[in-house]
Amino acid sequence: TLLLCGLAHAAPSSTLDAVLERGVLRVGFDAGYQPFEMTNKQGQYIGFDVDLAKMVAKEMGVKVEFVNTAWDGIIPALLTDKFDVIMGGMTVTPQRNLRVNFADPYIVVGQTIVLRKDKAGEIKSFSDLNDPKYKIAVKLGTTGEQAVKRMIPKATLLQFETQDDAKLEVINGKVDAFVYDLPYNAIFASQNTGAVVHLDKPFTFEPLAWAIRKGDQDTLNWLNNYLRQIKGDGSYDRLYKKWFES
Ligand code: ARG
Repeated sequence: TLLLCGLAHAAPSSTLDAVLERGVLRVGFDAGYQPFEMTNKQGQYIGFDVDLAKMVAKEMGVKVEFVNTAWDGIIPALLTDKFDVIMGGMTVTPQRNLRVNFADPYIVVGQTIVLRKDKAGEIKSFSDLNDPKYKIAVKLGTTGEQAVKRMIPKATLLQFETQDDAKLEVINGKVDAFVYDLPYNAIFASQNTGAVVHLDKPFTFEPLAWAIRKGDQDTLNWLNNYLRQIKGDGSYDRLYKKWFES
């Protein structure tokens, strides 16, 4: 009876149960990553991930709360329960997967290069940048940083806390290139055609997925089934068109 008693009052065993009990889904991301999560002029979060998170919460019958978190600390923040799930365009990597569980990928992207415009003639692909004379800006803790370290190891790497700071370096010609996810770079380059060019062929393969704490099959099962549903019933496509094709 002692055991039964304990079970009846036990803390929720899954994140899903905790969310339902709380009535709030807490979503971690790092805003500024267009078109997935941005802050508009009114200070509200908007973007592909934001809409997806709202849909998830609505389907669970709970409110949604966004917890903006620096990217290089986002896994520790998940692990210490600052929020329930990372919905922030996180690339599934084997190293991250040692620390968190990922739902099925919701989109696949890759790293691309935004170049200082005057370098467009001499640099045609990532391997042309593999020389200490070239400076490459990346955002700290991203797969962009990893890709440069692994695939362009001789280049001079400059890490920035925010993507905005890294991006400004290329616009101002202080670095030769910026390496980041394709969707971000496509928007970045299209808004700065006078200063940069986009080498838009991805040189890495990167499935992006929602991340939760390990060992939580109930939450993983819910998320994966929900994802399959919205991918099949047209609601995912509607959102995709809204954020990637307009
Ligand atoms: N996909 C890249 C990564 O996993 C960049 C994601 C950045 N996301 C963000 N919300 N700032 O490292």
